[in-house]
Amino acid sequence: MRKNRLVEEINRLKKEKRAVILAHNYQPDEIQDLADFVGDSLELSRKAAEVEADIIVFCGVHFMAETAKILAPGKKVLLPDLRARCPMADMVRGDDLRWMKEQHPGKKVVAYVNTTAEVKAETDVCCTSANAVQVVSSLPEAEIIFVPDRNLAHYVSQKTGKKLHLWDGYCPIHEEIKPKHIERMKKRHPGAEVWAHPECRPEVLLLADRILSTGQMIREAPKSEAREIIVATEVGILHRLRKENPDQKFYPAREKAVCRNMKRINLKKVYKTLLLEEPEVVVEPGLADRAREAINQMMLFI
Ligand code: 13P
Ligand code: SF4
Repeated sequence: MRKNRLVEEINRLKKEKRAVILAHNYQPDEIQDLADFVGDSLELSRKAAEVEADIIVFCGVHFMAETAKILAPGKKVLLPDLRARCPMADMVRGDDLRWMKEQHPGKKVVAYVNTTAEVKAETDVCCTSANAVQVVSSLPEAEIIFVPDRNLAHYVSQKTGKKLHLWDGYCPIHEEIKPKHIERMKKRHPGAEVWAHPECRPEVLLLADRILSTGQMIREAPKSEAREIIVATEVGILHRLRKENPDQKFYPAREKAVCRNMKRINLKKVYKTLLLEEPEVVVEPGLADRAREAINQMMLFI
């Protein structure tokens, strides 16, 4: 089927089945253009909880669809390719976190939303890159267990002055953005600001003018005086930044910063998913109840 036809069919099925399409800011351009709502992890969780629909087609990675299912247990949540998983989320398992809790008895656990439901079920509060600093600051304890992103943990610890017992996880895409990439781009575009995602290495964050989640980048760009911005995150974000701010110039810090898993979703798979209503993401209700508490705590922070 040709692209226009596919889009038409998807829209027809969407209406017929009372479905909505949610897409993360790193999704392929055609999926972002098709989606009813595009956002960062926190915005998408909110949307999943409040949207009126029978079906959510989640265009993102597995932990995001799983979070949507936990927040909206009455809705059918579909993920067009179950192999679209986040390698960072898969770096820590429930067992690992239980072991960490034994090593640091009585310490509160903050888990990045990039985790499995099993890990969330062992967690006190979840956070995203948009609210990690606020979440950690809000806890009275001076020492906290933080999983799985060591780079985000390093950033949050600096911002809050708290000691974080961290897990050695990382995002392979952000990890590959190095200071040399930023320096090269700054040479090419001397007037440009550097905006970096907090999943980047500490030495990259040191070179950044601003440290922002993907949703914050989208919101801040139109308010910014900067005419040129070097963006240190996954390249999918450039689509919206350029579309919504045609008078500014956005450059990828590293063109190869592509999350293969995010890009597993395409129009054909979305069509097939809506037609067959599979693959569905399911979470065992007892596990979902325990994980939901930590996610709901996270939703209290903007
Ligand atoms: P945000 O969209 O929350 O900034 O997260 C980035 C990310 O890597 C999601 O996988
Ligand atoms: Fe996971 Fe990194 Fe891909 Fe985000 S960009 S889904 S953190 S691997």
